[in-house]
Amino acid sequence: MKLGVFDSGIGGLLISKAIRSHMPEYDIVYTADTLHMPYGSRSRKAIYQYARKTMDFLFGTHDCKLVIIACNSATVAALRRLQREYLPQHFPDRYILGVVIPTVEEVYEHKYKRIGMLATQQTVYSGTYKEELEKLDPRVVLFQQAAPLLVPMIEHEGEKWIRPVLEEYLSPLMAENIEALILGCTHYTYLKEEIRSILGENIAILSQDEIIPRKLAHYFQRHPEREAVLSKNGDISLYFTDITQHYKRSAAHILEDDRIEIQAAWTYEEA
Ligand code: DGL
Repeated sequence: MKLGVFDSGIGGLLISKAIRSHMPEYDIVYTADTLHMPYGSRSRKAIYQYARKTMDFLFGTHDCKLVIIACNSATVAALRRLQREYLPQHFPDRYILGVVIPTVEEVYEHKYKRIGMLATQQTVYSGTYKEELEKLDPRVVLFQQAAPLLVPMIEHEGEKWIRPVLEEYLSPLMAENIEALILGCTHYTYLKEEIRSILGENIAILSQDEIIPRKLAHYFQRHPEREAVLSKNGDISLYFTDITQHYKRSAAHILEDDRIEIQAAWTYEEA
């Protein structure tokens, strides 16, 4: 059985890459719903429908035992419902993990109290991070900033113009004297260095490519029976709902593999 990783676009490839560098043995099936991205500005209802279709693909077609939703927007909009309604009904012996709880635990473990977060509109307006942080420690104060321009800029090779946009989004958070900044969208991992150069050295950056592999290793220790059924040939296969030259280039670049192929996840009927 496989380990599934799901994101709206290429952001989750960085998480997959990080998982592979910590635990190279697992076979990963990566699915990006590029046809419907950016998720961050879509409704909860739409994201749930898209995520559900991807779960059918990863569990049904690819026999995944465990799927990591490496997308914050999909985690906040769909994870709970998928775990409570979809899994028991369709795949009762499979599991789905999101990225919010591991990130919130990281904040708690470091005892940060004044936190900033940059995320998509969906993630900010859902209030999920605030709710989960306060459950662990009611003294935590979270300052959130929706950053709707970042994902489209990253997905369309717009990094060159990103600095002033980032400065605009980060300045209200920096004015709050935050101790740490959550990169609440997997795509922002690409911007870590640029963000670091704006924030300076005194504000910690919590980035999910560093958090998720470690938390996944702990999860496997706690659930050895789930880990034991995962196949271990070190393969990664990529399935996108829409494939363009740009995605092919980006995937090859991120995974540092020119021969990596992207396959069609499923085909929609011709109009
Ligand atoms: N990578 C996704 C996330 O972590 C969002 C990208 C998008 O808006 O589709 O929220």
